[in-house]
Order: sequence, then structure tokens, then C-alpha cells
Amino acid sequence: MEITIKKIDTPKSHPDESNLGFGTFFTDHMFCMDYTKGIGWHDARIEPYGPFPVSPATMVLHYGQTIFEGLKVYKKEDGSAQLFRPRDNFARLNRSADALCIPNIDIEEAMQGLEALLEMDKEWIPSAPGTSLYVRPFIIAMDPYIGLKSSPIHRLMIILSPVGAYYPEGFNPVKIWVSPEHVRAVRGGLGEAKTAANYAASLYATEIAQSEGYTQVLWLDGVERKYIEEVGSMNIFFVIDNEIVTPKLNGSILAGITRDSVLKLARHQGKEVIERRISIDEVFTAHEEGRLQEVFGSGTAAVISPVGMIKFGDREITVGDGNAGPISSGLFKDLMDIQFGRSEDPMEWIVPVK
Ligand code: COI
Repeated sequence: MEITIKKIDTPKSHPDESNLGFGTFFTDHMFCMDYTKGIGWHDARIEPYGPFPVSPATMVLHYGQTIFEGLKVYKKEDGSAQLFRPRDNFARLNRSADALCIPNIDIEEAMQGLEALLEMDKEWIPSAPGTSLYVRPFIIAMDPYIGLKSSPIHRLMIILSPVGAYYPEGFNPVKIWVSPEHVRAVRGGLGEAKTAANYAASLYATEIAQSEGYTQVLWLDGVERKYIEEVGSMNIFFVIDNEIVTPKLNGSILAGITRDSVLKLARHQGKEVIERRISIDEVFTAHEEGRLQEVFGSGTAAVISPVGMIKFGDREITVGDGNAGPISSGLFKDLMDIQFGRSEDPMEWIVPVK
């Protein structure tokens, strides 16, 4: 694939690495490629990062035909950099594309675009402890038309953002709120796709949770309102009776790549890990009986995030002593060690940045 390159005239100054937060700063360039029905993907290019003109009728603005991904580039101690499971992200982008009637991309072409962009903006990969370069590929429906149909024109873009911790809490435990009435997704809908609608559906309940002092919402299934699905920006794990349990994928839960990495890593370490349905009542009962040892979330942005408190109706529980437990702390360290190249990569997840 040929990539046209237009360099920025005046490179931007880099942000203070000790205060990056999440998703605020963007690098000098972005990758774009267009799709036109009957032609396919074309015009791969790297341009200066910045606003681009769209018609007010552009379909994505009205009907939300869009999908995205999130992955990271990690700087190693020797100064080189590496990606974590990037092809798995592009494969999931294609699964989301199927659900939203968006054309698939060629995974190797997307990798080529990402690698060319990283080559240009590699100076932006931060090296302060706990920082990384977040990669956000996304596809938007670009047809300027306001009738409802699947767009014949799309744009793939990849933007890069140097980031620190996703939650202001860092690795300190977050407090989560179980919504008794709001629903994020239902089976047969879009829950498994990484698409804007699922995140838009989460905003209202998240505002309620935050106004009550909680960081995120824990979603229950949309049919029985009983079984645990996921948390706002993460999948969720419980340690009960020394077993790691996470909700089994059912079509309305995002198939997290960090979720999959936690499962594989824990199994590789000989830990007992089970994917099954788990109800909120079971979690509260396990807590009452002293069997709930740890709760933690997983996600690219959030990495592994311990949960210290859960509120459901008028009941609130503190998990363990409210601090990160040994299993989540161990998995956090082991995963980060692989991602930052401090330890072996037994699963062959790492792709070096050239
Ligand atoms: C990620 O973890 O990469 C996500 O896409 C979640 C997003 C809400 C930041």
C-alpha cells in the first residue's frame, strides 16, 4: 500500500510527562484512509493532526455509524518501543465493522499505516513511569446524506495520544455503582461492538454514579437485570474462594483484549480462572460469607484497576480491606512487565516498533 505523507510545518511542543492524564494531548500527525463503495479502501495518507471539514449532513453525526479501538505503545528501558497485540485490535475492529455495516479493513494495511505513523511521531512516545502512547483507530461514516441507510463512504483514521493513568485514582481502588435501572446493551444489539452507541448509552448512569461519589457504573444484563456484564470502560473480574471469575461473553459484553490477556496470563501461571454467568446477588452473598477476596477491572486504558467498593441499591460493600489485593496487584505487575518489555513475552503478544 502506498502512503502519501504531508508533514506538519511547525511541530508542537510536547506536554509535561508527569501530568499527562488521559486523552488530552495529541501528536503531530494522523493516518487517514477512505473507503468508497465500488472502489474499496484508497488514499492512504499521513497528514498533520488537526480538524478536517465535514458536511453537517455527514452520516456519522446523525446515526452513529462508527467504530473504534484502543491500544498502546510502550517505551522500553533501552529506548525502543513496542505494541501490545495490535493485530487483535484490528481484528476486533473488523468484528465491530460487521455489526455496524462498515467495510472491513485489511489488517496488514492498517498495521502498515500505524507503523508509518509511529515512525513519524515516535518522539511522542512518553517514557515517564506508567505512561504510554495510546493509539485510537476509528472508522466513521462519511456520506453527506440524512436518509437512514448504511453509508457508502467511510474514513479510517488513527490518532495518537501520550497518556498517563486513565483513572485519577491510578492503581488505587475505584468505587463502582451498580445501576438498578439503566441498561448499556442487550443481546442481539451492539453490546459486543466497540461503537459509540454503547458509550453514549453509559453516560447518563455514569453521571448519576459520579454525583454519588462513584467512579464508574457496573452494568447488569438488560433482560433479567441480575447478571454482571461489564463496567463503564473495563471488563470485570472477581476472586471468590481463590478462583478468578469473569462474566462469560454473551454477545452484549465487549470481548476485551486485556480481559483475554488476563485470562491467558492467569491460566499460564496455573491459576484457576472461570468464565461463567455471575449474578450481583452471588457477589454480595460471597462478601457476606467472607468469600469475596478481590474485584478488579481490565481494559487497555484502565490496564488493571482494583475495585474497592461496590454499591447496589441501599447496600454497599468494601472489597477485602478496600485496598488492591495480591491477585490484581500480581496480574497488574505481570502484564505491565510484558507490555513494557521488562519480562519475557510467553504468549508472543509483543510487536516491536521499527
Ligand atoms: C480502552 O480501554 O481503550 C477504551 O477504549 C475505553 C475508553 C472508554 C477509553
